[in-house]
Amino acid sequence: MDSINSLFSLSGKRALVTGASSGLGVECAIALALAGAGVVLVARRADRVITLAGELARTYRVKVVGIGADVTVDSDLDRIFDEGCAALGGEIDILVNNAGVSPTGRAENLSRESWEHALAVNLTAPMMLSQRFARRLVAAKSPGRIINMGSIYSTVASGVYRLSAYVATKAALANLTRQLAVEWAPYGILVNAIAPGWIPTEATEGGIAKPANRQRMENFTPLGRLGRPEEVRGAVIYLASPASSYVTGAVLAVDGGYTAW
Ligand SMILES: NC(=O)c1ccc[n+]([C@@H]2O[C@H](COP(=O)([O-])OP(=O)(O)OC[C@H]3O[C@@H](n4cnc5c(N)ncnc54)[C@H](OP(=O)(O)O)[C@@H]3O)[C@@H](O)[C@H]2O)c1
Repeated sequence: MDSINSLFSLSGKRALVTGASSGLGVECAIALALAGAGVVLVARRADRVITLAGELARTYRVKVVGIGADVTVDSDLDRIFDEGCAALGGEIDILVNNAGVSPTGRAENLSRESWEHALAVNLTAPMMLSQRFARRLVAAKSPGRIINMGSIYSTVASGVYRLSAYVATKAALANLTRQLAVEWAPYGILVNAIAPGWIPTEATEGGIAKPANRQRMENFTPLGRLGRPEEVRGAVIYLASPASSYVTGAVLAVDGGYTAW
């Protein structure tokens, strides 16, 4: 590697991002396209991912396709790989498990339905997608990258919100990241996670809008502010690119230092 471009370029690679209809998923998609990868955008709101696909393809001159799908539905998981690979013209090399939900409410009142839905989207779907991805790459004898979207709540509990299902799934996702990294290292599949702090998106804007909450989040963050959505882009490019070729099983905090103390 003799240039900054060869260290971080994703030219010729193909990526799939779940939850690409809003928030951090959009940022992951922009990052991957910016670095030269073709991208499959997945979310239930098909109109959004199809529109974003057109915008990214025009801006970055890479192949991008939007596919409406629910990551909790097995038949959708098969379909997104088949349709995504067909649209991009080859096997997916980079899987970003970003789709997530964060039901709030006191632990003693959380419904079984909310708990199980959080498990299905935040933990079971990344596992099922990662399985499909790994099987395809092992059969093709190709290396690959998986990037899971963890959280500060992969490591610590939430004092601001009642988030029992969320923190449980994000902590489990972090250790699943490590386990898959160990099991799939022999196949050249590197598995890492990004753990963002509080960043304004559709999921968080309601809570952040309350001044007392925002103040508390900022006070707990050494950098003294919330993150900006685009601040996850660098971590995505790093973990997808040749720059991180000796990194697997890592959970990379992008949290302004929130989990440093
Ligand atoms: N924002 C933060 O402060 C923060 C911090 C740490 C971690 N995170 C994590 O970052 C990820 C993205 O969150 P965000 O903040 O960007 O929230 P967001 O804007 O609400 O995005 C959530 C995404 O997940 C998708 N999604 C939800 N259920 C789905 C399903 N069943 N099938 C397919 N897609 C589904 C949504 O798309 P559709 O509704 O169109 O399906 C949407 O694109 C999550 O994993 C979240 O836990 C966020």
